[in-house]
Amino acid sequence: MSGRFLVTGGAGFVGSHLVATLIARGDDCVVLDNFRIGHRAAILPGAEAADIDLADRVAVDRIVAAGPWDAVFHFAGLSLVAESMRDPFRYLGENFGHGLTLIEACVRHGVDRFVLSSTAALFGRPTTPRLDETTPIDPVSPYGESKWLLERALVWADRVHGLRSATLRYFNAAGSDPAGRLGEDHQPETHLMPLAIDTALGRRPEFVVFGGDYDTPDGTCIRDYVHVSDLADAHLRAFRQLDRGSVAYNVGIGAGASVLDVIRSVERVSGRKVRYRVADRRPGDPAVLVADPGKIMRETGWSPRFTALDDIVRTAFDWRAAHPNGYESALTNAASPV
Ligand code: UFG
Repeated sequence: MSGRFLVTGGAGFVGSHLVATLIARGDDCVVLDNFRIGHRAAILPGAEAADIDLADRVAVDRIVAAGPWDAVFHFAGLSLVAESMRDPFRYLGENFGHGLTLIEACVRHGVDRFVLSSTAALFGRPTTPRLDETTPIDPVSPYGESKWLLERALVWADRVHGLRSATLRYFNAAGSDPAGRLGEDHQPETHLMPLAIDTALGRRPEFVVFGGDYDTPDGTCIRDYVHVSDLADAHLRAFRQLDRGSVAYNVGIGAGASVLDVIRSVERVSGRKVRYRVADRRPGDPAVLVADPGKIMRETGWSPRFTALDDIVRTAFDWRAAHPNGYESALTNAASPV
C-alpha cells in the first residue's frame, strides 16, 4: 500500500536514496530541504520539493500541518564529526534545536510516525569489536551528541505524546544508486571514499590518511561501510516496524574496512594508483566503528545486498567518474544544447 511522506534533507546523500526507493514503490513524497547541502538535481521526478529551512518555525509548522503524513523521515542536518569539533554550538543548535522544532510540529499536527537518521558517532570510543543496541552511548563529538539529544527527545515524544519513532544509527554510508541517477556530492568533500576515488581519477594530487598509529592491524581507522541503497531499504523496514512501537537500530554490514583497505579497493576498481601520505589523526575520530546489525536483521528481515567493499566502491566510482563536478555536471549536461 502506498503512502504519503515528508522527507527532510531528501535532497542530500542518504535522503535522496530513500526518496528514490519511495517513488519506486509509488509513494507520494515531499522533500523539505534548504538546498545548502542538498542538491535540486538529486530530487528525482515524481517527488515534490519544498524549499524550507528548518530554522523557519512558521514554514515548518505549515508544511507539517499540510498532512496527513504516513511518516516524517528526518535526514536534514549537519553530519561532519571534524566540523562539529570546531563549531559545537552550531551542531547542537541546528541538529538538535531545529530537529526539536520539527518534532514539536509533528506532535502538534498529529503525525504519529517519525524516522530519524541517527549515527554510530553517538557510541564514542567503544571497547567491544562490534556495536549492538546495548553498547553504552557516550558521544565524543558534538555531532554525536546532537543526534543523541534528538533520540532522547523522541523517547519523550513517544512517552508523553505517543509519537512513535525509529532511529537508525548508521555507520558509514557509502556507494551510490546502482542505476547511476544519484551519488555522493558534498561541497567541500571530506569523506574517505569520494576523496580516494578523486585521487585515483587524477582530480586530487594525493590522499591524506588521518592517522597511521591507531590500535588496528594496519594502524588506520576501521569503519563499517554500508551501501546507501541498503540504508534506504533499512529506513523503509524500520518504518513498517513502527506498528509494534518505537525502535532503535544499528545499521551496518557488520564488517570493518580500514582506510588502507578502502584505498586498495579503489585501486582495484579503478585500475589506477591512489597516491597517499599518512598525516596526524583527525580530532574526534574513534579507531574502530563496526556494527552488529543482528537486531534490525532479525526484527525487520533487512539484509544488505552489498557486502563486498569492491561492489560498494564500484557504484561510487561509476557515479563520480561520470560526474566530475557532482550534480553540477548533470545540470551542465542538461542545459547544453544537443
Ligand atoms: N579519512 C582519512 N582521510 C580523509 C578522510 C577520511 O583518512 O581525507 C578517514 C577518517 O579519519 C576515518 C575514515 O576515513 O577514519 C572515514 O572518514 P569519513 O570522513 O569518510 O567518515 P566518518 O567516519 O568521519 O563519519 C561518517 C559520517 C558521520 C557518521 C560516521 C559514523 O560522516 O556522519 O560516519 O561512523 F557519524
